[in-house]
Amino acid sequence: MPSSGIFISFEGIDGAGKSTHIEALAAALRAQGRTVVLTREPGGTPLAEKLRTLLLHDAMDPLCEALLMFAARRDHLQQVIEPALARGEVVLCDRFTDATFAYQGHGRGFDLDTLGTLERWVQALPPGGVRQPDLTLWFDLDPAIAAQRLAGARVPDKFEAQPVAFFRRVADGYADRMAQDPGRFARIGAEGTPDVVREAVLGACRSRPWWREIAP
Ligand code: TYD
Repeated sequence: MPSSGIFISFEGIDGAGKSTHIEALAAALRAQGRTVVLTREPGGTPLAEKLRTLLLHDAMDPLCEALLMFAARRDHLQQVIEPALARGEVVLCDRFTDATFAYQGHGRGFDLDTLGTLERWVQALPPGGVRQPDLTLWFDLDPAIAAQRLAGARVPDKFEAQPVAFFRRVADGYADRMAQDPGRFARIGAEGTPDVVREAVLGACRSRPWWREIAP
């Protein structure tokens, strides 16, 4: 059981529809009187939001992309996530490190061991631990359906403009991360109606032993 606040991350390919559900979960927790920090990656601090603009719009080589993702994450952890958890708050984060393994690792083909090294440096939790979310909700949707949902919705950024084959690799990357840490993950089938998906999200949360402490 977590000793301080609760850290929940939301993951999935672009178009899987996680944003609506982050807002809904934040509202549900606030209605229970919890202090909720709703944040995102890359981003969440003034510095990390500047890096986000570069990452989403500027071409760069895969190492540069991975380093900037982790640089943004470091600032976000130090400035926002760790202080909020230390205050006992609930942190809901739109993407975290699983996205780096899925997008930069599996999507772009960047070396997974190097990402693992960066993960251990950036998320180091003395003495000897590595900060990870208490729960990761993975919104899993067929990449072809996600592409249909995204089509025409807005001007695509650098990642959204990738072909379906890229998102198939990204989805495999999420499955791989879940297989390595199954206790942390809940796979949410994202093809259902918003109501069905919302119930699945709440069901995953309620199945955690600490949920009753934050949403009695
Ligand atoms: P996203 O979370 O989808 O935000 P929005 O809904 O506002 O577009 O956009 C972030 C993009 O960044 C998304 O395409 C995935 C990508 N990304 C990575 O490639 N690696 C990472 O480590 C993170 C956190 C995000």
